[in-house]
Amino acid sequence: MDGPKEIFLKDYKLPDYYFDTVDLKFSLGEEKTYVSSKISVIPRVEGSSAPLVLNGQDLNLVSVKVNEKELKDGDYLLDSRHLTLPSPPSGVFTLEIVTEIYPQKNTSLEGLYKSSGNFCTQCEAEGFRKITYYQDRPDIMARYTCRIEADKALYPVLLSNGNLIEQGDLEDGRHYALWEDPFKKPCYLFALVAGKLESRDDSFITRAGRKVSLRIWTPSQDLPKTGHAMHSLKAAMKWDEDVFGLEYDLDLFNIVAVPDFNMGAMENKSLNIFNSKLVLASPETATDADYAAILGVIGHEYFHNWTGNRVTCRDWFQLSLKEGLTVFRDQEFSSDMGSRTVKRISDVSKLRIYQYPQDAGPMAHPVRPHSYIKMDNFYTVTVYEKGAEVVRMYKTLLGSQGFRKGMDLYFQRHDGQAVTCEDFFAAMRDANDAEFSNFLLWYSQAGTPTVKVTSSYNAEAHTFSLKFCQEVPPTPGQPVKEPMFIPVSVGLLDSTGKDMPLSSVHHDGTLQSIAKDGQPVYSTVLRVTKKEEEFVFADVHERPIPSLLRGFSAPIRLESDLAESDLFFLLAHDSDEFNRWEAGQVLARKLMLTLVADFQQKKPLVLDPKFVHGLGSILRDPSLDKEFIAKAITLPGEGEIMDMMDVADPDAAHAVRVFIRKQIAQELKGDLISTVENNRSSDGYVFNHDNMARRALKNIALAYLAALDDPECTALAMHEYQTATNMTEQFAALAAIAQNPTKTREEVLADFYSKWQHDFLVVNKWFALQAMSNIPGNVENVRNLLNHPAFDLRNPNKVYSLIGGFCGSPVNFHAKDGSGYKFLGEVVVQLDKINPQVASRMVSAFSRWRRYDGTRQNLAKAQLEMIMSTNGLSENVFEIASKSLG
Ligand code: PHE
Ligand code: ZN
Repeated sequence: MDGPKEIFLKDYKLPDYYFDTVDLKFSLGEEKTYVSSKISVIPRVEGSSAPLVLNGQDLNLVSVKVNEKELKDGDYLLDSRHLTLPSPPSGVFTLEIVTEIYPQKNTSLEGLYKSSGNFCTQCEAEGFRKITYYQDRPDIMARYTCRIEADKALYPVLLSNGNLIEQGDLEDGRHYALWEDPFKKPCYLFALVAGKLESRDDSFITRAGRKVSLRIWTPSQDLPKTGHAMHSLKAAMKWDEDVFGLEYDLDLFNIVAVPDFNMGAMENKSLNIFNSKLVLASPETATDADYAAILGVIGHEYFHNWTGNRVTCRDWFQLSLKEGLTVFRDQEFSSDMGSRTVKRISDVSKLRIYQYPQDAGPMAHPVRPHSYIKMDNFYTVTVYEKGAEVVRMYKTLLGSQGFRKGMDLYFQRHDGQAVTCEDFFAAMRDANDAEFSNFLLWYSQAGTPTVKVTSSYNAEAHTFSLKFCQEVPPTPGQPVKEPMFIPVSVGLLDSTGKDMPLSSVHHDGTLQSIAKDGQPVYSTVLRVTKKEEEFVFADVHERPIPSLLRGFSAPIRLESDLAESDLFFLLAHDSDEFNRWEAGQVLARKLMLTLVADFQQKKPLVLDPKFVHGLGSILRDPSLDKEFIAKAITLPGEGEIMDMMDVADPDAAHAVRVFIRKQIAQELKGDLISTVENNRSSDGYVFNHDNMARRALKNIALAYLAALDDPECTALAMHEYQTATNMTEQFAALAAIAQNPTKTREEVLADFYSKWQHDFLVVNKWFALQAMSNIPGNVENVRNLLNHPAFDLRNPNKVYSLIGGFCGSPVNFHAKDGSGYKFLGEVVVQLDKINPQVASRMVSAFSRWRRYDGTRQNLAKAQLEMIMSTNGLSENVFEIASKSLG
């Protein structure tokens, strides 16, 4: 048997036919739905009579007409994935296809499906082919109309892209709506929604003075929870005008929230469809993290209107063209709405925790992959988050104004087109006459570069030298790498902790001036492009402490020769707040690795008092932002530590982290208690930076204290749980208490469930909290939760909470008896029959099995082999499982 087919970027070919207009008609029914699609087809090359190959999957073909004439059986070829017209007429022609589909039975949640009684669609990446036969590729851009017919009582609301141009009643209690989208688009941006929904209505006046109607649709009982989403949408519309000069281009913008959705949300033209957890929020039911995620994702999908929709991707290999850029835009938006430093810390943490391991494992791929089996598997942290870092590097190199010039040129050149990552690169370069040497390697080379820095001060010459040496590790299919273009933002601190003015730097035999317009500069961006390279700062009058990679100016692993005392100094003084946090993290990682070695050698664990002292002074510093403090006293996770070990040892990493937390809690107990007491809410919930910062600090202090598991701290946590008036504090108190395997834990978990069983989003938090628990033997509990009445394998959110949560537990997923691996193996096989995309996300937890000891390797490998031998395995899971074993 042939394995599933791999598709390569190098095989890209222009389509033989373009589609100009597409008129869709849906007749939605309880058993089946009819879809008719009338397409005007234009050959790319005049007179060509190449075959026209259309994609299709799980479709029942009813009829095909060419130029109004119905085709007979032999006039076309049909297989399980294609409909081919072997010799279409030459010149322009119309093609009319009718298919029959069964949305009620569609559990994959791509194409047309039902979610709590409503119809909705998800077409990215290749879901449109489950609706009708089509050239399902993003470089086919057409103008669409969409007529929807359905039962009026069951589906009073009928939505599609663009403008509503007609609606009315039909016989038999049915009605219809006709929508027209004036912008041409690829089929992955098509959307349809039909159901019993109500809307929160608002409006936005664009800077040109046009009024845009905004509507957020949910079942009526959820409408009160859409206020924050609406606020976020308006803020995003304003921000894109202010920062990028980009206005919304239609008179209507719809958002629909659905409970069953594989991903976060989807940017369908003027009809965004969202996972309801990224729309619905109230202070009582959503945490600060939820509020922040809603702001970011509402922004993200809205920003796609320009970066993704107006300018789209030529092919799916270019996915980061829209996703990396749009993530960058949503990161900037969130930074401007809150704290820039804290946002940067969160984004870099995410990159380290999820993307670095991917980049170092069997699924490592460049920001622009070279091949795939299932595109769904490439909606990854590499394409999204590393892609956003690549966009950020342009901005670091060009400055805000230069970056904006590049963006303007990009839209000027490519509005209405389907383009590539090189086109974006060229716009940035040409708008600025920039020299970008080998920057494009960021798109084609996988793996996280490691950069070693050694520094030396010459007291006589007053020079300070930084020597860089870079290495890009081998990744699957790429054994040898070229050196990359790495922007390294640098400042030099004097002995009082102040930034020194930087005047000039020797590099490549020339002396380059740094000062700008005679003004001193305190931070500069060094362009590291070779394997080994030296930069020598002139006029440095005392030995400086270098602050390297300020603001995390490149997605690399930096290894510097800074002494521990230098790091403590940076933690206390760096003017770059990101690097203050980073210095603390470097210290913590070093400390944790040393303790891991002690643990493995069965030595007693002793915590360095300097570390506790350092954290203590951060905790007590009234001049610091509270959210920054919360971040700075949070230890790196077990995953990050395991990532730095030759053989990942989850037991040691966890034991060490628990030990340090308890030790800190013990020694800073008084400060932590007053931190909790002084940061209680005085009045109602407000979503703003100050209030979030206060809650974040209080919650982390409480988590430390509860780790002590003593009666005083448990009572304090119980008190916080009982008096909380918002979910942020209530859930944090619950999580704090749930760390310890006590009777109180069971009682509070039960109490929480009985309070919130009516709210599925809150119940998901309850699932996740238990699933992630590091209490030994928790796999049994998680198995039981699979049978909990509130659990359902068909709902992705529930799977992500319970199964995804479980895979995050170093202790239980990696249990040495293999019980965690066995559990995941069984679930993946079951899940794959329901929803391959979700199953594939879950099976990825196995991908780094080679990082562990021999016993664990064998146990995990056995599960992967068991999965591979399953009959009817999806291409999605096949790709991840086979590459993991390969
Ligand atoms: N394009 C969506 C986004 O990032 C993500 C998505 C991909 C959603 C595929 C559904 C399916 O905004
Ligand atoms: Zn996106």
